[in-house]
Amino acid sequence: MATEAPALTTDLVLRTESRRKESSAALDAGRRGELGQFFTPAPAADFIASLIKLPRGGSVRILDPGAGAGSLTASLVARLIEESPELKISVTACEVDPQLHTALQATLDDCVDTAARLGAHVDVRLVRGDFIAWATGTDRMSGQPPEPFDFVIMNPPYKKLAANSRERKSVAAVSTETSNLYSAFMALGVHLLSDGGQLMAITPRSFTNGPYFRPFRKYFLERMHLDRVHVFEARNRVFADTDVLQENVIFAATRTDGAERGPVVVSTSRSYSEAVRQRSAPYAEVVHPEDREHFIHISADEEDTALAASHASLPCALPDLDLQVSTGRVVDFRSREHLRPDDMPGAVPLIYPLHMGQGVIRWPVRGARKNNAIMLNPQTEKLTFPLGHYVVVKRLSSKEEKRRVVAVVFDPEQIPCERIGFENHVNVFHSNGSGLPGEVARGLCLWLNSTILDRYVRRFSGHTQVNATDLRNLRYPNMAQLSAMGRSWRSGSWPAQEEIDEVVRRNVD
Ligand SMILES: C[S@@+](CC[C@H](N)C(=O)[O-])C[C@H]1O[C@@H](n2cnc3c(N)ncnc32)[C@H](O)[C@@H]1O
Repeated sequence: MATEAPALTTDLVLRTESRRKESSAALDAGRRGELGQFFTPAPAADFIASLIKLPRGGSVRILDPGAGAGSLTASLVARLIEESPELKISVTACEVDPQLHTALQATLDDCVDTAARLGAHVDVRLVRGDFIAWATGTDRMSGQPPEPFDFVIMNPPYKKLAANSRERKSVAAVSTETSNLYSAFMALGVHLLSDGGQLMAITPRSFTNGPYFRPFRKYFLERMHLDRVHVFEARNRVFADTDVLQENVIFAATRTDGAERGPVVVSTSRSYSEAVRQRSAPYAEVVHPEDREHFIHISADEEDTALAASHASLPCALPDLDLQVSTGRVVDFRSREHLRPDDMPGAVPLIYPLHMGQGVIRWPVRGARKNNAIMLNPQTEKLTFPLGHYVVVKRLSSKEEKRRVVAVVFDPEQIPCERIGFENHVNVFHSNGSGLPGEVARGLCLWLNSTILDRYVRRFSGHTQVNATDLRNLRYPNMAQLSAMGRSWRSGSWPAQEEIDEVVRRNVD
């Protein structure tokens, strides 16, 4: 029997892989996007299943919400029946799409049969319906609300949830406010875990520090101990055969409800089948105990650690500099009647990302698809800033841009005007609503465009937007360092990247 087990469980995984490929090929593209149907290939599913800590014995209850063709369940059951055949396993798989029920039921039956052939015991249940309604007890049709689970394994669907959506309200009623279906699935996974139960998941990386995920992170981190976090060095490796371009993270966490924190194993690889580099990080390095944003810092190797340490040793947070950063206040579709294509009497400059040149604002840009000006009147005045030096940062960098953070200076000498409007797609550094000293603005701009900051932001930011919250959470050089850097930028020319980095190296050690 012992020699037979690996062959039998490998076959279970291979048959499931065929069902996954067949069901994936049969999906309608529109529905696929709507239901987030990007299935986990077998090597990734095996890797995720390998992260569980095996229980000592007895019975285990497994939940696979949004199960697709059952790939994660098959890999987990394969591992359990091979390594702990004495366990009594019960699986609940939930899937909303009726088109997948035949394949999923076949995988579940396959688990039962394979286990039986090995003398192990698996019983299965397929919940044919919406996981959110079932897990929150709002769906009377699916029977009793679920009991706690020992393992929750998931590759949840990804979709934004509207603020007033039914899903969002019912998830908030039992767990936390959250803005995406994937974090809703995770929150409910946590909610349904037994004490000491484990959650294994592959998800987008955005929840680790995206501003909209803050309440979710708080809920999650107060209840769960992160045991293992794995990131991929390239964006699209995991779902290489499904066209998904996303930064993913695989993690394993245990429900401890805030009990003592041990180390976290942080690892990276280029793909799920290539060599894994890993290290053990102190918990406080991954989740800073005092951090009110509850960011999850995933630094995978020594270089990352050095980068995180040098960032942490920078002398100032923004309030220490008496600076603030805000998202541009002019939301163009809300102020449409006040916008003008070109400058005219009574109007002031309106700055969009398209006005951002090399280090400076170029205004106006004639013939662009966006407006150049906003009328100054009692309704718009509060949306604008007085004339001064400001540092402007793009919220979204384009694919062609080399750096994640792109910053320029608004220079009042180049664009004399009464006030300035900044549009919502840029962030603006200001000092209590007014401009910064010119030198400081120029130094801050150089700092924000430096390679060292770019590497830090890239490594520790899972999402590609640069929001005001992200900038608020960075540390900065002090005033003297910023001014000294600013003095070395001669106006009229934008330094090459090496020169910027050299200025930063000379002034910030
Ligand atoms: C990202 S796929 C992953 C499937 C499978 N777990 C895997 O790893 O291959 C997400 C699955 O969730 C299902 N799904 C989407 N919304 C759902 C909901 N509200 N309730 C249950 N399942 C849902 C989709 O149909 C899809 O099969």
